[in-house]
Amino acid sequence: MPALSNRTDSFTDSVIRRMTRISNEYGAVNLSQGFPDFEPPREILTRLVEVANEDYHQYSVTWGAQNFREALAKKYEHFSGIAIDPDSEIVVTCGSTEAMMAAMMSVTNPGDKVIVFSPFYENYGADAVLCGAEPLYVPLVPPEFGFDPNVLEEAFRQKPKAMILCNPSNPCGKVFTKDELEIIAGLAKKYDVFIITDEVYEHIVYAPNVHSYMAALPGMRERTVQCSSLSKTYSITGWRLGYVIAPPDIIDRVKKVHDFLTVGAAAPLQEAAVAGLDFGDDYYKALQEKYTEKRELFLRGLDDIGLVHTEPQGAYYVLVDISGFGYESDLDFCTRLAQKVGVGAVPGSSFFKEPENRFIRLHFAKRNDTLNEALERLDSIKIKMGK
Ligand SMILES: Cc1ncc(COP(=O)(O)O)c(C=O)c1O
Repeated sequence: MPALSNRTDSFTDSVIRRMTRISNEYGAVNLSQGFPDFEPPREILTRLVEVANEDYHQYSVTWGAQNFREALAKKYEHFSGIAIDPDSEIVVTCGSTEAMMAAMMSVTNPGDKVIVFSPFYENYGADAVLCGAEPLYVPLVPPEFGFDPNVLEEAFRQKPKAMILCNPSNPCGKVFTKDELEIIAGLAKKYDVFIITDEVYEHIVYAPNVHSYMAALPGMRERTVQCSSLSKTYSITGWRLGYVIAPPDIIDRVKKVHDFLTVGAAAPLQEAAVAGLDFGDDYYKALQEKYTEKRELFLRGLDDIGLVHTEPQGAYYVLVDISGFGYESDLDFCTRLAQKVGVGAVPGSSFFKEPENRFIRLHFAKRNDTLNEALERLDSIKIKMGK
């Protein structure tokens, strides 16, 4: 048999998705892969039922159904203050996952360098490799996950084509302040670099933190390729609806990549999701309140058990420090945690470029009774996981 492509040789399968399979194998409460166990908004589901009997079963326009793009442009302007043309500045994709890949393929050539903050959402490394790009990692330093502007500028001096910015950030929960975004924007303009943002948690931010859009900063609209999705905002991770927003010359390229990768996102699901894009401010306020309550419940529960952890400013992940347990491998720790304690977690090492082995990631996008069950199980962690 001929040799297979070596394109994927340098990375494994997704550790996040693998931990879901391991959790399921041991019947663990799965707090590894970030998806809710509560229902999406009723209005969206009601519309989905109607759509089943309407005429939305063939391909939509490849770059997204007209009414979806129009509703999205309206919502985006409402929150970011930026008016966009739904025809020439949006491509609807199969989740932010495809959006990020299409953005990377549209902006970079093989051999180009791309700056990535570490810790990072694990897809970015694979995206870069699949595009033939070379990641330049810049640390976000625990426990505050701040960055050193001089270290960042050092990376910009290496002539990167783009920088990937996850804001709010998975896994560390950092919400970049406007000042921090301005430092990054200043460097992007000085060194003529694109910023590819992943803003899937734009509506999950804890007061007093606020989300600022990179594209809204002066001079940044033309060099920002914004990726986001409906997965987290409307609790529909399985629907695979995401998008890229960028100026027309970039979107022209993204349309081509997207067309040949997937043709389009699912037409009936786009149609049903318009009900969500049309929600008023009340929906987003209630979403914040819901996640603020879950964050409180879960973090205070971890405190009661005596676990040291991060205090996320946004998104719904918490990094728990496991250094006191004396394990050499956090992957080993997570496998045993699923097996012995019955809670699924992701080894922190899968997010860090640095040889970091002291964190596991748990998420709290679950019903309160699921979170309470997980906390009850975690109560025995010191007895069951001690060495
Ligand atoms: C930072 C980040 N980006 C993208 C995704 C995937 O988003 P989507 O479901 O839209 O592909 C996730 C999912 O956990 C994520 O945490």
